[in-house]
Amino acid sequence: MSNHEHHDTAHQPVHRKEMTRRQFLAYTLGGTTAFLAAGPVLPMVRFAVDPILTKKTEGTYVKVVEESKITSEPQEFKFQIHQVDGWYESDPELAAWIAKDDQGNIFALSPICKHLGCTINWNTQKDNQYFCPCHEAKYTKEGKNLRVAPNPLDEYDLKLENGFIYLGPVKPNTKV
Ligand code: FES
Repeated sequence: MSNHEHHDTAHQPVHRKEMTRRQFLAYTLGGTTAFLAAGPVLPMVRFAVDPILTKKTEGTYVKVVEESKITSEPQEFKFQIHQVDGWYESDPELAAWIAKDDQGNIFALSPICKHLGCTINWNTQKDNQYFCPCHEAKYTKEGKNLRVAPNPLDEYDLKLENGFIYLGPVKPNTKV
Protein backbone atom coordinates (compact mmCIF):
# COMPACT_ATOMS: atom_id res chain seq x y z
CA MET A 1 0.00 0.00 0.00
CA SER A 2 2.79 2.41 0.85
CA ASN A 3 4.38 1.55 -2.42
CA HIS A 4 1.22 2.55 -4.17
CA GLU A 5 1.09 5.94 -2.37
CA HIS A 6 4.72 6.62 -3.08
CA HIS A 7 4.10 5.84 -6.72
CA ASP A 8 1.18 8.32 -6.84
CA THR A 9 3.10 11.13 -5.13
CA ALA A 10 6.05 10.73 -7.42
CA HIS A 11 3.81 11.32 -10.39
CA GLN A 12 1.99 14.38 -9.02
CA PRO A 13 2.68 17.54 -10.99
CA VAL A 14 5.13 19.70 -9.01
CA HIS A 15 2.77 22.67 -8.63
CA ARG A 16 0.26 20.60 -6.70
CA LYS A 17 2.84 19.81 -4.04
CA GLU A 18 3.73 23.51 -3.65
CA MET A 19 0.11 24.50 -3.27
CA THR A 20 -0.31 21.99 -0.50
CA ARG A 21 2.67 23.35 1.41
CA ARG A 22 1.49 26.91 0.98
CA GLN A 23 -1.95 26.04 2.23
CA PHE A 24 -0.45 24.33 5.22
CA LEU A 25 1.60 27.41 6.10
CA ALA A 26 -1.38 29.68 5.62
CA TYR A 27 -3.49 27.62 7.99
CA THR A 28 -0.75 27.36 10.58
CA LEU A 29 0.23 31.03 10.59
CA GLY A 30 -3.38 32.16 10.35
CA GLY A 31 -4.28 30.04 13.36
CA THR A 32 -1.37 31.32 15.42
CA THR A 33 -2.21 34.94 14.68
CA ALA A 34 -5.83 34.44 15.67
CA PHE A 35 -4.74 32.80 18.90
CA LEU A 36 -2.33 35.62 19.79
CA ALA A 37 -4.96 38.24 19.03
CA ALA A 38 -7.59 36.52 21.14
CA GLY A 39 -5.32 36.10 24.18
CA PRO A 40 -5.36 39.58 25.73
CA VAL A 41 -8.93 40.35 24.67
CA LEU A 42 -10.79 37.53 26.39
CA PRO A 43 -10.11 38.46 30.03
CA MET A 44 -11.09 42.07 29.35
CA VAL A 45 -14.40 41.05 27.83
CA ARG A 46 -15.02 38.74 30.73
CA PHE A 47 -14.23 41.53 33.18
CA ALA A 48 -16.57 43.94 31.42
CA VAL A 49 -19.44 41.48 31.49
CA ASP A 50 -18.83 40.08 34.93
CA PRO A 51 -17.21 42.71 37.13
CA ILE A 52 -18.30 41.74 40.62
CA LEU A 53 -20.29 38.56 40.76
CA THR A 54 -17.29 36.26 40.52
CA LYS A 55 -16.53 33.28 42.68
CA LYS A 56 -12.92 34.47 42.97
CA THR A 57 -13.90 37.09 45.55
CA GLU A 58 -15.92 34.64 47.63
CA GLY A 59 -14.80 34.63 51.23
CA THR A 60 -12.57 37.66 50.70
CA TYR A 61 -13.42 40.77 52.66
CA VAL A 62 -11.91 44.17 52.00
CA LYS A 63 -11.53 46.89 54.65
CA VAL A 64 -13.48 49.87 53.29
CA VAL A 65 -14.21 52.57 55.90
CA GLU A 66 -14.55 53.35 59.61
CA GLU A 67 -17.93 52.47 61.02
CA SER A 68 -18.15 55.95 62.62
CA LYS A 69 -18.29 57.61 59.18
CA ILE A 70 -21.61 55.96 58.30
CA THR A 71 -24.81 57.99 58.56
CA SER A 72 -28.44 57.33 57.69
CA GLU A 73 -27.78 59.24 54.45
CA PRO A 74 -26.15 56.90 51.88
CA GLN A 75 -22.55 57.77 50.99
CA GLU A 76 -20.39 56.31 48.26
CA PHE A 77 -17.11 54.58 49.15
CA LYS A 78 -14.55 53.19 46.71
CA PHE A 79 -12.36 50.16 47.36
CA GLN A 80 -10.11 47.79 45.44
CA ILE A 81 -10.29 44.02 45.22
CA HIS A 82 -7.53 41.72 44.03
CA GLN A 83 -8.73 39.27 41.38
CA VAL A 84 -6.83 36.27 40.08
CA ASP A 85 -8.23 34.55 37.03
CA GLY A 86 -5.67 31.96 35.96
CA TRP A 87 -2.67 33.94 34.72
CA TYR A 88 -4.61 37.20 34.68
CA GLU A 89 -4.46 39.33 37.83
CA SER A 90 -6.21 42.65 38.29
CA ASP A 91 -7.18 45.14 41.01
CA PRO A 92 -10.47 46.59 39.87
CA GLU A 93 -11.91 49.47 41.86
CA LEU A 94 -15.43 48.91 43.12
CA ALA A 95 -17.90 51.23 44.77
CA ALA A 96 -20.51 50.76 47.45
CA TRP A 97 -23.26 53.00 48.78
CA ILE A 98 -23.26 52.53 52.54
CA ALA A 99 -25.91 53.74 54.98
CA LYS A 100 -27.73 52.93 58.23
CA ASP A 101 -31.31 51.71 58.07
CA ASP A 102 -34.04 52.91 60.45
CA GLN A 103 -32.87 50.42 63.11
CA GLY A 104 -29.30 51.66 62.85
CA ASN A 105 -28.05 48.58 60.98
CA ILE A 106 -25.36 49.31 58.42
CA PHE A 107 -25.81 47.97 54.90
CA ALA A 108 -23.96 48.44 51.60
CA LEU A 109 -25.51 48.47 48.13
CA SER A 110 -23.92 47.86 44.75
CA PRO A 111 -24.05 50.88 42.41
CA ILE A 112 -24.77 48.71 39.35
CA CYS A 113 -28.24 49.41 37.98
CA LYS A 114 -30.29 46.22 37.64
CA HIS A 115 -31.75 47.40 34.35
CA LEU A 116 -28.74 47.35 32.02
CA GLY A 117 -25.81 47.93 34.32
CA CYS A 118 -25.20 51.68 34.37
CA THR A 119 -24.06 53.34 37.60
CA ILE A 120 -26.69 54.72 39.96
CA ASN A 121 -26.35 57.81 42.13
CA TRP A 122 -28.04 58.90 45.33
CA ASN A 123 -30.48 61.78 45.44
CA THR A 124 -29.49 63.51 42.20
CA GLN A 125 -33.22 64.16 41.64
CA LYS A 126 -33.63 65.58 45.18
CA ASP A 127 -36.16 62.89 46.07
CA ASN A 128 -34.06 60.77 48.46
CA GLN A 129 -33.89 57.91 45.98
CA TYR A 130 -31.21 56.27 43.88
CA PHE A 131 -31.39 57.35 40.26
CA CYS A 132 -29.91 55.81 37.13
CA PRO A 133 -29.25 58.40 34.41
CA CYS A 134 -29.34 55.87 31.55
CA HIS A 135 -33.07 55.09 31.48
CA GLU A 136 -34.22 56.80 34.67
CA ALA A 137 -34.61 53.79 36.94
CA LYS A 138 -35.28 54.68 40.56
CA TYR A 139 -34.65 52.79 43.80
CA THR A 140 -35.42 53.44 47.46
CA LYS A 141 -32.67 53.94 50.03
CA GLU A 142 -32.81 50.16 50.74
CA GLY A 143 -32.44 49.47 47.01
CA LYS A 144 -36.03 48.51 46.19
CA ASN A 145 -36.68 48.99 42.48
CA LEU A 146 -39.39 51.61 41.91
CA ARG A 147 -39.36 51.96 38.12
CA VAL A 148 -37.67 50.62 34.94
CA ALA A 149 -35.33 48.17 36.71
CA PRO A 150 -36.70 44.63 37.19
CA ASN A 151 -34.90 43.87 40.49
CA PRO A 152 -33.63 45.57 43.65
CA LEU A 153 -30.02 46.75 43.82
CA ASP A 154 -27.61 44.04 44.92
CA GLU A 155 -26.11 44.16 48.39
CA TYR A 156 -22.55 43.53 49.57
CA ASP A 157 -21.84 40.99 52.26
CA LEU A 158 -20.71 43.13 55.17
CA LYS A 159 -18.96 42.54 58.46
CA LEU A 160 -17.87 44.88 61.24
CA GLU A 161 -14.54 44.36 62.95
CA ASN A 162 -12.70 46.67 65.34
CA GLY A 163 -14.72 49.66 64.23
CA PHE A 164 -14.18 49.09 60.52
CA ILE A 165 -16.54 47.99 57.77
CA TYR A 166 -15.38 45.10 55.58
CA LEU A 167 -17.18 44.28 52.35
CA GLY A 168 -17.32 40.88 50.72
CA PRO A 169 -19.05 39.44 47.66
CA VAL A 170 -22.22 40.86 46.19
CA LYS A 171 -25.46 39.02 46.92
CA PRO A 172 -29.16 39.60 46.18
CA ASN A 173 -30.71 42.37 48.26
CA THR A 174 -31.86 41.25 51.74
CA LYS A 175 -33.27 44.63 52.78
CA VAL A 176 -36.38 44.69 50.62
S1 FES B 1 -29.31 50.92 33.00
FE1 FES B 1 -30.16 51.95 34.67
S2 FES B 1 -32.06 52.53 33.91
FE2 FES B 1 -31.27 51.42 32.28
